Amino acid sequence: MKIGIVCVSDRCAAGEKTDTSGPAIAACVAPFCADPVYRLVPDDAQQIASALRALSDDAGVDMIFTTGGTGFAPRDVTPEATLAVLDRQTPGISEAIRAESLKITPRAMLSRAVSGIRGRTLIVNLPGSPKAVRESLAVVLPVLGHAVETLGGNTQSCGGNYENG
Ligand code: MTE
Repeated sequence: MKIGIVCVSDRCAAGEKTDTSGPAIAACVAPFCADPVYRLVPDDAQQIASALRALSDDAGVDMIFTTGGTGFAPRDVTPEATLAVLDRQTPGISEAIRAESLKITPRAMLSRAVSGIRGRTLIVNLPGSPKAVRESLAVVLPVLGHAVETLGGNTQSCGGNYENG
């Protein structure tokens, strides 16, 4: 599986802070992808959208996880930039992340994260902290394999045992 990681952060992009959430995603997805493609962009809608387009259209990744910029701060525009490049939304993924995260912290309701499909690529917004990244990925990782399978047109195992995704 080919996976892309987009860290969205003004401070990391300016070199004022080291991104720890991107590496947290890489560690979580290591069983699926040993060498994810990584991009670091500021909280700028054009730059976020262009990184998402490049990874899905040119690099041809199966799945992109963004981290950061999903909250209420004036510069938080990751969901809007993501929606601008999506062909189809996948609300179930973001709803599941929020629902499970709410069991851990009420602050989970402050994430406006979205997810969806561009071409053959699934794009999932995650919040900006390594803790939130790990908690969110624990929810979606079990269904990743089947998500990519169906994106590629293979729906044969849809009626099977889906206890583990
Ligand atoms: N989700 C999980 N699972 N765990 C968390 O600690 N933090 C929340 C929320 N989602 C959190 C979470 C907080 S404090 C905020 S402000 C929002 O995500 C938005 O985060 P972002 O702006 O870094 O994307």
